[in-house]
Amino acid sequence: MDKNILVLPGDGIGPEIMEAGLLVLDKIASTFNHQFTIDKGLIGGHAIDEENDPLPNETLLKAKNSDAVLLGAVGGPKWDNNPSHLRPERGLLAIRKGLDLYANLRPVKGFKQLLDASPLKPDVVGGSDLLIVRELTGGLYFGRPSERRDNDQTVVDTLSYTRKEMKRIIVKGFESAQLRNKKLTSVDKANVLESSKMWREIVEAEKVNFPDVTVEHVLVDACAMKLITAPTSFDVIVTENMFGDILSDEASVLTGSLGMLPSASLAENGVGLYEPAHGSAPDIANQNIANPMAMILSIAMMLRYSFAMNDEAHAIETAVEKVIDQGYHTGDLKVKHGTKLSTSDMAEMIVQAI
Ligand code: NAD
Ligand code: IPM
Ligand code: MN
Repeated sequence: MDKNILVLPGDGIGPEIMEAGLLVLDKIASTFNHQFTIDKGLIGGHAIDEENDPLPNETLLKAKNSDAVLLGAVGGPKWDNNPSHLRPERGLLAIRKGLDLYANLRPVKGFKQLLDASPLKPDVVGGSDLLIVRELTGGLYFGRPSERRDNDQTVVDTLSYTRKEMKRIIVKGFESAQLRNKKLTSVDKANVLESSKMWREIVEAEKVNFPDVTVEHVLVDACAMKLITAPTSFDVIVTENMFGDILSDEASVLTGSLGMLPSASLAENGVGLYEPAHGSAPDIANQNIANPMAMILSIAMMLRYSFAMNDEAHAIETAVEKVIDQGYHTGDLKVKHGTKLSTSDMAEMIVQAI
């Protein structure tokens, strides 16, 4: 198959992990006889430096005309004091909105060999395998007004959702649970927020359409606790934008590192975007030590969700597992045994395992 992929390396460790990921994609192309045509684009801090815009029009246009988008990460201290409209993160939010990527799937799967990389007890994290379905284009991130008032003495952020926006992500949660172990945990703050009350109503109304799925409602604060005390009790978690952001970083602790968490951001119809759940990690950028596995596993998600290349996706996932089983890891994974690899050596090892 021929596919056009827009690659947005971004900032910090973004370019390093992207380079690693593209080596793996090349190996998939040659092994399975595909042609992946790569176009590169600007986003985030680099786009601000070059175009004075965190998401240049050209990048969004290229994204819309591609078969899928791969993104590294954006952001860094260089741009932290910029005005809001000139922050790298704005570029990320704008491409999510511009492509209507409402569904962010973040699988969290613990590898046996990495059990001791987690600060949690092995008997607690062992067998963790869950999926966070995070709403990505609404809520606090996009609500208007979002502004300072009263001579800088008051600040307002708006948490707003339409019924339709909630329904489509909740349905995505149910559908995801149907494809997995048929348990859905809906996470909200219905004891306080009006938005969460509506969210809960919609979950209750939808559940009749998914009779094979068991549904539970959990308040977000309790969920944060249960995620690290009883992680194996979860299958699919569905939640709004900011709760999903926070819970997914927390859940990464189950795997041993934020550098292990891939993600897929999907639209109802249209281009998907694939990126690690982590950020640009400025503290370790340009040292060839970042963990490329979240990026590489995001590429596997692209193959599966955008191109229906299930064997190819599986080949990457199996290779990652094999390399981990052989004791290889990157420095972020605090394991007691095994061999520590650089970013590029880890990529090479995964390429060889395919
Ligand atoms: P971060 O995810 O970049 O880093 C948090 C910690 O995890 C750091 O210690 C970092 O070194 C480590 N880490 C993250 N990914 C790693 C990897 N692949 N390998 C090894 N270690 C890894 O979060 P932060 O430090 O809070 O944010 C840094 C910048 O990234 C900020 O500008 C933030 O806005 C941005 N950010 C971007 C995205 C994105 O592009 N999707 C996501 C989150 C944060
Ligand atoms: C993520 C990031 C982004 C988010 C930031 C950088 C805007 O934390 O992808 O999880 O909050 O969605
Ligand atoms: Mn985040």
